[in-house]
Amino acid sequence: MITFDHGKKTFHLQCGDFSYLFGVAATGDLQQLHWGAALSDKDLQKVLAAWEKVPVEDDHHISLEKHRREYPDFGHNDLRAPAFHLQHADGSRVSEFKFISHEIVPGKPAFGPGPSAEGRKEEDVETLKVTLRDALKGLVLELYYTLHPKEGVLVRRAGLRNEGKDPMDILKLSSASLDLPTGEHGLVSFTGRWAMERQMRTRPLYQGTVRLESRRGISSHETNPFAVVTLGSVTEEKGEAFGLALATSGNWLMEFQGHSDGSVRVNAGLNDFDFQWCLAPGETFLSPECVMVHSSSGFSDMSLRYHRFIRSNVLKGAWKTKERPILINNWEATYFKFKHEDILRIAKTAASLGVELMVLDDGWFGKRDDDTTSLGDWTVDSAKLPKGLGGLADEVRALRLKFGLWIEPEMVSPKSQLYERHPDWCLHVPGRTRKGARSQLVLDMGRPEVRDHLFEVLSAALEEAMVDYVKWDMNRSLSEVGNEALPPGQQREIYHRYLMGVYELMDRLNKRFPEVLFEGCSGGGARFDLGVLNYHPQIWTSDNTDGLDRLFIQYATSFCYPPLVMGAHISTVPNHQTKRVIPLKWRALVAMSGNFGLELDVSKMPEKELKELAGHIALYKDIRPLVQFGDFYRLESPYASERTSWMFVNEKRTEALLFVFQVKPFKKGTKVPTIHLRGLDPSKKYRIEGAELAGKKLMKEGWLPKDFKTVKKPYTCGLYRLRTL
Ligand code: DGJ
Repeated sequence: MITFDHGKKTFHLQCGDFSYLFGVAATGDLQQLHWGAALSDKDLQKVLAAWEKVPVEDDHHISLEKHRREYPDFGHNDLRAPAFHLQHADGSRVSEFKFISHEIVPGKPAFGPGPSAEGRKEEDVETLKVTLRDALKGLVLELYYTLHPKEGVLVRRAGLRNEGKDPMDILKLSSASLDLPTGEHGLVSFTGRWAMERQMRTRPLYQGTVRLESRRGISSHETNPFAVVTLGSVTEEKGEAFGLALATSGNWLMEFQGHSDGSVRVNAGLNDFDFQWCLAPGETFLSPECVMVHSSSGFSDMSLRYHRFIRSNVLKGAWKTKERPILINNWEATYFKFKHEDILRIAKTAASLGVELMVLDDGWFGKRDDDTTSLGDWTVDSAKLPKGLGGLADEVRALRLKFGLWIEPEMVSPKSQLYERHPDWCLHVPGRTRKGARSQLVLDMGRPEVRDHLFEVLSAALEEAMVDYVKWDMNRSLSEVGNEALPPGQQREIYHRYLMGVYELMDRLNKRFPEVLFEGCSGGGARFDLGVLNYHPQIWTSDNTDGLDRLFIQYATSFCYPPLVMGAHISTVPNHQTKRVIPLKWRALVAMSGNFGLELDVSKMPEKELKELAGHIALYKDIRPLVQFGDFYRLESPYASERTSWMFVNEKRTEALLFVFQVKPFKKGTKVPTIHLRGLDPSKKYRIEGAELAGKKLMKEGWLPKDFKTVKKPYTCGLYRLRTL
C-alpha cells in the first residue's frame, strides 16, 4: 500500500514486513526517512518526530550532508556521491530540483523499450510517481516506485525530461539512491572471472567508496549487477539484508560510500564512466530498473523474494511458467569439429536416454572450423551439414527430440563475408586499430540497419530449422566504442545505444518466434542479469561445468537468481576446464539442482554409465517441477563448510528434496554436525530415508543421512526426498 500524508508530506510504502518512508522537506528537497522493518504506528511517530528535529538546510550553517536524501543532486553543499549529475547548456552542473507533485497509480506504467518487470494491478501492485522540477533549466525528474506486495519487492527507476529550451547532457543517472543510517554495514558482492563467475565475497563498509561496476558493455563475468548490504551480523535466517539488483546488461554502477558519520550512501544505476547522454528539448531518458528487497530475517527470505519475483514478474512469454526441457548440447562433445552424422549419433543416444532437446552449438555456419572466422555469415556450412539445418532438424525431430540452435548475433569476424561487405558496421574509431578478442569484432547494435539485417538473416536460419530453442551467445567485451554515425558530442552514448539495440533485437525475435525457448549466454555467465531475463527465460550459468566449482557458482548465484534460470549441465571427465575427475552421480546432482542438461558425447559413454545417466534423467523429470518452481533454501555453504547442502520445498510444504555434497572430510575428531532442514511444515511428519520424522525436529535438531554419518569416500553426495505422511 502506498499512501501520502498531506499534512506531514510523507510517502509511506508499506509491504507486509517492510516499510519505505520518505518526506518532502519545506525546501522541496526529498528526504529519506526509513527503509527497513515494517513500522508500527508508534515507530512511525518516532521516525517522524526525529525528522522534525533535523535542522533545515536553508540555514546557511547547516550542510545538506546532515540529511538522508532520497535522490541527491550535485552542486550544493552535500558533497557525497550524487545520484545524478547533469551538465547544462551554459556549462554549469549545479541542479536544483524541487518537489512538484505525485501520483499513485494501480499497476505500473508502460515504460516503452527496454526491460521492465511486470506489475499487475490484480496483485495489488501500485506505482508512485514523484515529480520534481528544476525551474531554472526547465528539467523534470520523475522518480518511480513500484511496490509488489505479493513478493515483498520494491522497484525503483528514474527518468529525466527536458522541458527547457536548450539541450543538456546527462553525465550520471542512478535508478535508486539510499542513505542508510549509521550502523555496522557490510557488503556482499558476487565477483569473479570467466569460468568462475559470481563468487561470493563479503567486506565491511566503512568510510570510503566501493564501486561495483562494469565498464565492458556487458554486465560482466567480473561483477554481477546484484549486491547485498548487511546491517550487523546476517545469516540465512537472521539479520537485516538490503538487496539491490539492476535490470541492465550493459555498463552499470553500484557505489557504496561510507560517510564520516558512519552512514552509507548507495547509488545504483547506469555507470557514469565514459557516459554522457545529450537530452534535447522534449526528450526523456530513463534509467534501468533497480529491484530492491529488504529482509529482517536474513539472506534466505531475501533470496526467496527475488526468486518468486523473477519467476512471476521478470520472466515473460510462453516459457515463463513451463517446465524446461532436458537438453543436450554438442559444444564440449565436438567443439567445431562435427558433421551431420556426428550430431545425429549424439542425438540418437540422447533420445534413448530420455533427453528432450538437441542443441547444435557454434560452428554450423559459414566456414567456421575454429573461432577465427565466419561470425556474421548466418548461412549453413554445407560441408558439415549437407542436408542443411532443416535436414538435420527433421532427422533430430524424427528421434522425438526438439531442435535448438546457437547464434552469436552481436559479432562479426574480420574473416567473413559480412565484414567484407560492411567493414563499417562494427564499433570502431576511424584511424584506430580494431582490437579483436577471440578474433571477433562487435557489431554496432545501436544502428537500425545492423539490427534489421540481423533480424532477417537470423529469422531465415531459425525458420529453416523450425527451431524450438535458441542459445544467444556473446563472447567478448566492447572496445573501440565509437562510430561515424553519431556526432562527436554523442560518442559517449554508444554503449547505451548498443544495449538498447540488443534489447530491441531480442524483443523482435521473441515476438517473431513466440514459442521458441531462448537461453542467454555470454562466454558462460557474463550477462547473467535481470535485463537479459526479461527476454531470455534461462541463462547459461558458466562455461565451467566442473561439479565442484559449480557448487560455489550455483550457491552464490542463488542469492538473487532462482535455479529455474540457471543452465546446469553434466559434462565429461576429466573436466575440460579444470581437468578434475568427479563421479557421475555428483556431477548429476549438481546439474539437477538447476536447469538440467548434458554437454558431452553420450554416444561414446560406456553402457554402465549410460544406464546410470538414464536413471538421473528419469529422476530429474520426476523432481523437475519442484526444482524449477519450488522454494530453494541454502543450508550449508561451500564457502564456509566442508559440506554443502540445499533444499527445494513445494508451495504446500508437502514435498521436499535435500541435496548433500561432502566437499571434504570434517576435521579429525569433529563430531559430524546434523543438517538443519528448512522450509518444512513444523506441524507435519515427513518420510525421509524410510524414517518418519516431525518437520519441527528436522528443522530444529537437524538430521543426517546414513551415508554422511561417517564419510569415507571422496565426493560422497546424496539426494533425499521428503514427503508428508
Ligand atoms: C561460449 C559459450 O559459453 C559456450 O557454451 C559455447 O557456446 C561457446 N561460446 C561457443 O563458441
